[in-house]
Amino acid sequence: MIQKLSGLFRRRQREPITLRTDLHSHLIPGIDDGAKTLGESLKLIRTLHTLGYRKLITTPHTMSHRYPNDRRTILDGLGTLRKALEEAQIDISVDAASEYYLDEHFAELIAKRELLTFGKNEVLFEMSYIIEPPQLDTIVFELQSSGYTPVLAHPERYLFLHEHFERYRQLKERGVRFQVNINSLGGFYSKAVQKTARRIMHEGWIDYLGSDTHHRRHIDALTAALKSGIVANVCEKNTLLNDRL
Ligand SMILES: [Fe+2]
Repeated sequence: MIQKLSGLFRRRQREPITLRTDLHSHLIPGIDDGAKTLGESLKLIRTLHTLGYRKLITTPHTMSHRYPNDRRTILDGLGTLRKALEEAQIDISVDAASEYYLDEHFAELIAKRELLTFGKNEVLFEMSYIIEPPQLDTIVFELQSSGYTPVLAHPERYLFLHEHFERYRQLKERGVRFQVNINSLGGFYSKAVQKTARRIMHEGWIDYLGSDTHHRRHIDALTAALKSGIVANVCEKNTLLNDRL
């Protein structure tokens, strides 16, 4: 009897939890390395809807030399996308912020208070995967003293941090929020990235889960990861803020 009950309990624990809000994706067509056409955007969003998402905060890259986006390119693209979603009768709301690459241009935008934010003045940013930018601490400080809350995109993907796990603790203690990719936990990128994502999860440091959807392969991996109950695993030790957005 007890065995039967504990079996039931284990099965219940593994039941997938549905996230209604996604933070981090590249769904505005033609302005970065995400969806190329409006048709492609709609296909990706239809699948996200099928997976249970009802609100998307999409985050095109702002990277001065590769994807020179600004408020206008992003908000104009958002307008076009919203109109197409309405015409296609897909019942999902889409907002836009940006995934800012940590460089001099980002520092200028902070100084001018020209950032696209989500939630309570939160800013999603990324940095080099290979070496720590020397200005990381300064940028975090500048963001905070300008009234922004920094959210580091996919902390698990910065290879230089894998061997310096204490640095994650330091960033968390300084008030940086972490957005981990669901596909990192599912093993889409690499074993090393998956291992680090799991360590961050076990520490209880995940604030947001994101799909970081660029294309169909991401969506296929995401579908499998969500079905395997990854969100429920994360919720055991982490307080996810996705559905408060
Ligand atoms: Fe991204």
